[in-house]
Amino acid sequence: MNILSWVIYIPLQILFLPIVILGALLVAYKQIVVSKKLGLSMTAIEVINGRWTMHIFGMREDKATVSLAAALPNTSLFGLWLCLFPLWIKHKISGRLALYPRVPELGSETIADLIVARTLYFDRVIERAVGQVDQLVVMGAGYDMRAYGKLQCKNVSFFELDQPSVQTHKLASLESSGIASEHVTFVSVDFGNENAVERLIESGFDTSKKTLFLWEGVTLYLSEADVRKTMGDIRNTAPAGSVLLADIYAERFIAFAGKGSRKKTLDQTGEGLDFGLNFSTNHDEVLSEFVESESMSIGETFFMGRKNDKGPFVVVVEMTIG
Ligand SMILES: C[S@@+](CC[C@H](N)C(=O)[O-])C[C@H]1O[C@@H](n2cnc3c(N)ncnc32)[C@H](O)[C@@H]1O
Repeated sequence: MNILSWVIYIPLQILFLPIVILGALLVAYKQIVVSKKLGLSMTAIEVINGRWTMHIFGMREDKATVSLAAALPNTSLFGLWLCLFPLWIKHKISGRLALYPRVPELGSETIADLIVARTLYFDRVIERAVGQVDQLVVMGAGYDMRAYGKLQCKNVSFFELDQPSVQTHKLASLESSGIASEHVTFVSVDFGNENAVERLIESGFDTSKKTLFLWEGVTLYLSEADVRKTMGDIRNTAPAGSVLLADIYAERFIAFAGKGSRKKTLDQTGEGLDFGLNFSTNHDEVLSEFVESESMSIGETFFMGRKNDKGPFVVVVEMTIG
């Protein structure tokens, strides 16, 4: 079946090329132009598009993402279907994942795997850690739907932090897609100008309870000073045993993704890239030095693309407090 799937996929993909281009244009228009017009995050759309794709290809059940994505004005599911249809047909015939989306071997990820692999690594740590905490804080939540899926049955209080415009829009979209959100406390914050933990406390965050902080796809948009300040605020407030789970990017990724036409696109929604670490040599040591300089200790790590001669392009890192 695998050979048959390639025999059907290759001509179908070639025939579909104009349709794929049309789909990509539709997705890009919604993501860039509509997000800019509505003052929303276009990078958060990239993530929900990736997680929608994972669900559609049977990699990760996430019905809440599918419902929310259908209600968002700044993505086009029709466009995504046009882009992915030949790959989806191939997947249906072979029952396997190939090209995109796929589950790469740890260390062999490419930039095309970023959202999919990062989501899987975050999921893995969350699944283990969530049973040991009482609160879960999604920082820079965007359209993350973890608080509305299977984690909801865990005995934890949920908080979501984001910029006011993104958060207000998410709340309205949750309501219009009929997704209950009463169990989540929404706290608007700008990591650059505010103390995120103070804002959390004002909203009922309990500083005596162990907490899992998710900071997925956010540090790269902040300055090093703002990343360190937020880490310090968490360390000084959350009790021992709390965990900060984040992705931290290589300087080479920031330089590559933050220049040329990609930079111009990111500038449209004020999402220029900034913080990164130099992972070109001794990436383990570089990460340890950074995390220990903030008086946290390293738990599990996933260095993505570490088999590349230039070193990993990002790490998903579990950092423990106390
Ligand atoms: C790439 S999205 C990631 C969304 C989400 N964490 C996920 O994985 O689905 C980045 C998010 O960070 C938020 N963000 C970026 N800079 C921020 C800041 N200075 N303060 C608060 N949120 C910020 C954006 O609004 C956006 O929702």
